[in-house]
Amino acid sequence: MPSVTAPLGGGGAIAGGSAPTAARGHGGGRRPRWLRVKDWDEHVEHLERMAATPGFLDLRDRVVELAGLRPEDRLLDVGAGTGLLTVAAAPRVARVSALDNSPAMCERLARKLSALGIGNAEVLLDGATALPFGDGTLDVVLSNYCFHHLTHTEKDQALAEIVRVLRPGGRLVFADMMFQVSVRDRRDRAVIARLARRMVVRGPAGLWRLARNATRIATGRWEHPARVEWWEDALARAGFAEVDVRALDHEGGIARARRPPGPGTRCAAP
Ligand SMILES: C[S@@+](CC[C@H](N)C(=O)[O-])C[C@H]1O[C@@H](n2cnc3c(N)ncnc32)[C@H](O)[C@@H]1O
Repeated sequence: MPSVTAPLGGGGAIAGGSAPTAARGHGGGRRPRWLRVKDWDEHVEHLERMAATPGFLDLRDRVVELAGLRPEDRLLDVGAGTGLLTVAAAPRVARVSALDNSPAMCERLARKLSALGIGNAEVLLDGATALPFGDGTLDVVLSNYCFHHLTHTEKDQALAEIVRVLRPGGRLVFADMMFQVSVRDRRDRAVIARLARRMVVRGPAGLWRLARNATRIATGRWEHPARVEWWEDALARAGFAEVDVRALDHEGGIARARRPPGPGTRCAAP
């Protein structure tokens, strides 16, 4: 079975067995679960169900197609979860590194890769803001619905790291929620109204979820999606070229960019 390694924060290498928990701090003490920072270890089954929905399968197909994968590519999947992108990409490339900061996700993915007989993928227990790779060592970085869990400062750090680990000319393609909780912009308003409607039609359970999300937003504990324009600026700031960020016809968007082929790339986080 592919092992799960924790090269930086997680406390050593493990293969199966119990998972290290030092990669993240969840905080929260005795607060109810919905008021705590999301602990992805508690959401493995939920993510497996979400990754099997038509919406996520469509995102997977779009991201993989836009990446133009080649047999010689060394690829990184950031926030790999239970392996939606990793499993699709592995047969098309030389090597996949699937990185996630949830020990439970990493354990599940390592078992899945083993069960599927995928031998060219490794699972790394680590965070998106300090990538355990040397400069210019990867050809492609992919990600699906991970970045809105990072603050904007962490997104900038992650982009600086991605541009560092990509070889000149290397590609970044990712999908994420792309809107802002704001009533000023027309698309933002439409996205929020659609998300709220989706919850309301689910009756009391949906209304309860809506109230919890409103509380999380009001207290700064919700996720941190960024708008298309924010991503365009951030990718340019990090030193990417050929930046192309597009809103989809729901709350999501897809971004692609390249590390410029020549020297002179600016790699520092702002
Ligand atoms: C919505 S899930 C998406 C998983 C997978 N990419 C997919 O499409 O099914 C987000 C994933 O990002 C991971 N994640 C969140 N913050 C992270 C961080 N700072 N570094 C690495 N992974 C992170 C979570 O543990 C979770 O597995």
